[in-house]
Amino acid sequence: MEEKNLQWFPGHMKKAQRLIQENLRLVDLVIELLDARIPASSQNPLLREILGDKPRLIVLNKSDLADRKSVDAWLKNFRDENIPAVAVDAVKGTGLKSLISHAKELAAPKTNKFARAGAKPRSARLMIVGIPNVGKSSLINRLAGANHVKIENRPGVTRAKQWIKISDGLDLLDMPGILWPKFDDAEVALKLSWTYAISDEIHDLEPTVTKLLMTLAEKNPAGLRERYKLAELPDDAHELLNLIGRKRGCLVKGGDIDIEKVLRLVLNEFRAGKLGRVTLDEP
Ligand code: G4P
Repeated sequence: MEEKNLQWFPGHMKKAQRLIQENLRLVDLVIELLDARIPASSQNPLLREILGDKPRLIVLNKSDLADRKSVDAWLKNFRDENIPAVAVDAVKGTGLKSLISHAKELAAPKTNKFARAGAKPRSARLMIVGIPNVGKSSLINRLAGANHVKIENRPGVTRAKQWIKISDGLDLLDMPGILWPKFDDAEVALKLSWTYAISDEIHDLEPTVTKLLMTLAEKNPAGLRERYKLAELPDDAHELLNLIGRKRGCLVKGGDIDIEKVLRLVLNEFRAGKLGRVTLDEP
C-alpha cells in the first residue's frame, strides 16, 4: 500500500466518526454490520470506544456468501463473549425476524424504563453502522420494505432526522453510519480489497488477485473447479490464471491471454459470490 493513498484517510475517518457520535445519543442500540466472510477484518476497533456502554448487536451480513459452518462458529464465538449476534442476507431478507427480535430485546431495559415511569412506552430506536460496501443501505432498504413510513421532526431533536418504522415498536434511523475500515495490517487490507470494502486503487491488481486465487484454492477448491470447469487446480497461481483465461476466452490478438481481463474477471466473480461460499477469517 502506498503512502500517498493514505493521505485522504484520516479526514474521512474523523468525519464519519463524528457523524456516528452525534447520532448515538438518539438511539437505544447500535447494529454493527459485519461481512460474514470476514467478521474480524470488517470490524473497526474504534467502534467499541465510540459506543461506550450503548448496547450493540452484531449482524453478520452476506451470510449467503460465507461458509455455513463458519457462520455458526462466528455466531457462537460472539455469543460466548456475551455479544448478541445474528446472521442475515440483506438482499434476500433472510434472518431479519431474528434481527428485529434481538434488537427489541436489547433495547427493552431502556424502553421499559419509560413505561414504568408512567409515560407512554416509546419505540426502541436503532442505528446501523459498518464499513463501506458491507450492506448498510441494502439492510436499511430491506428493513424499510413496504413499511417506508418516515417519522420526521421528533420532539427534542434539534435537527430533523429521518426515522423508519421497521416493526411494531422499533424505529430505525435512516442514516447508514460509515465506519472506516482498519487496514494497517497487510493481510486485513487484502481481505478488505477482495470484498471491495476498500477501493481497487489501493492495491495492484495482479498480486491482489493471485493471492485471492491461492486462498480460494486452499479454502474452497471445489468452488473454483466448478466455476471454471477444471478437473484439477494447478499449484501455481499464474498457471491457474492462464487456464481460466483460456476457458473464458480472455485473449488478445494472436491468441495470448489477456491477463488484465482474467484478473478483473476473477475478482468480479468472487465479489459476486460465483466462486462458492468462503469465509476468510476464522474465529
Ligand atoms: P453499503 O451501504 O454498506 O456501502 O453497502 P450496500 O448496501 O450498497 O451493498 C453493497 C453491495 O453488497 C451491493 O452490491 C449489495 O447488493 C450487496 N449486498 C448487500 N447485502 C448483501 C447480502 O446479504 N448478500 C449478498 N450476496 N450481497 C449483498 P452491488 O453489486 O454493489 O450493487 P447491486 O447491483 O447488487 O445493487
